[in-house]
Amino acid sequence: MTAIEVKSGISWIGVNDRTTDLFEGLWPITSEGVSYNAYVIKDEKSVLVDMAKDIKSNALLDQISEVVDPADLDYIVINHMEPDHTGVIRSLRRIAPKAIVLCSARAAEMLEAYYGVTEGVHVVTDGETLELGEHTLKFFMTPMVHWPETMMTYETTQRVLFSCDAFGSYGALQGSVFEDQCYDLAFYEQQALRYYANIVALFARPVIKAIDKLKDLPIDVIAPSHGLIWRSDPGRIIQLYQKWANYALKGPETGVTLLYGTMYGNTEKMVEAVASGVAAARVPLEIFDVRHIHASYILSSVYKHSGVLVGAPTYEGGLFPPMAHVLDMVARKRIQHRKLAYFGSFGWSGGARREITTLAERLRWDLDEPWEFRGGPRHEDLIRGRKLGYQFAMSLKENAVAD
Ligand code: FEO
Repeated sequence: MTAIEVKSGISWIGVNDRTTDLFEGLWPITSEGVSYNAYVIKDEKSVLVDMAKDIKSNALLDQISEVVDPADLDYIVINHMEPDHTGVIRSLRRIAPKAIVLCSARAAEMLEAYYGVTEGVHVVTDGETLELGEHTLKFFMTPMVHWPETMMTYETTQRVLFSCDAFGSYGALQGSVFEDQCYDLAFYEQQALRYYANIVALFARPVIKAIDKLKDLPIDVIAPSHGLIWRSDPGRIIQLYQKWANYALKGPETGVTLLYGTMYGNTEKMVEAVASGVAAARVPLEIFDVRHIHASYILSSVYKHSGVLVGAPTYEGGLFPPMAHVLDMVARKRIQHRKLAYFGSFGWSGGARREITTLAERLRWDLDEPWEFRGGPRHEDLIRGRKLGYQFAMSLKENAVAD
């Protein structure tokens, strides 16, 4: 896509990345891709807002050239230093040596640390404004959304908020940049939740603080640095962010994430029985086989649901390793205060029970009495499994009513 006008004098000049397999070297985007949105404001002074990952240097320079000669840029705004938004900076500095970098004080330190850039950097402060001609920029410090140096930039005359990671999503843009021109909004909202759970969820309080700080700003357009630009209903993505942040602060939705792994199908047989019990209680249920599904996709489900059912066998005296890995990722994201139940098969001695108990303590999750069965489940075991699923789901409903 070539440059697209967002508002008078403000253009999207971003790029899609369908090459990177793992975002941050960690989160799969092979099938979804991602966009690095950047923007040019052309006025008496020309400004570039955010950039792209270094592998997209040439593509981004071509995009900037659609609107303005990169050598004529007066300013480069860095809202966030993570290299998916700044990797182009060294190339750009060679082409546009007179452009002044505008960023937070913490970002200036990181600029030196990551790229050795110290000259031509102007540190902006919270609430500082910059006149460009007809347009005016205002800077808001929003630390920890996603790194400590993060800020957002607001264009006051066209009411455009350049929010960087906040309100963004995985998913390369599919021929349109605006949410009102997108035919699969549900995909981007799901990918926004996955991005939130993977990247931002640890910082729920800073997210709420940032939303609160910006609540009185009249916003016509939210222009994040990943995913769709929200111009028809910018309040929609703000409300979703509020809801997601509140999963951590006020509690998640009533629902079950059923995580399972199996070696020879014995635990899997029990999964079907347990799932039928949850379904009978009419509680939302998502099931993930941790052998095949990356934690990236699982985190968003665990993040939004009040209950987690874990079905996994004992392996060499401990928890089935793929399950231990997923739960370790959950713990690293500090998803706390969920209800947990465990079931699984063992051969000659248990062991998973001990590990799941330790994990529950680390996560501060409320663990029901773990249940291990030997070998393959018998008919009466399956009846018990269905009952386990039903009672677990009903207890979530009852807790939600009690709240
Ligand atoms: Fe899109 Fe925190 O980087």
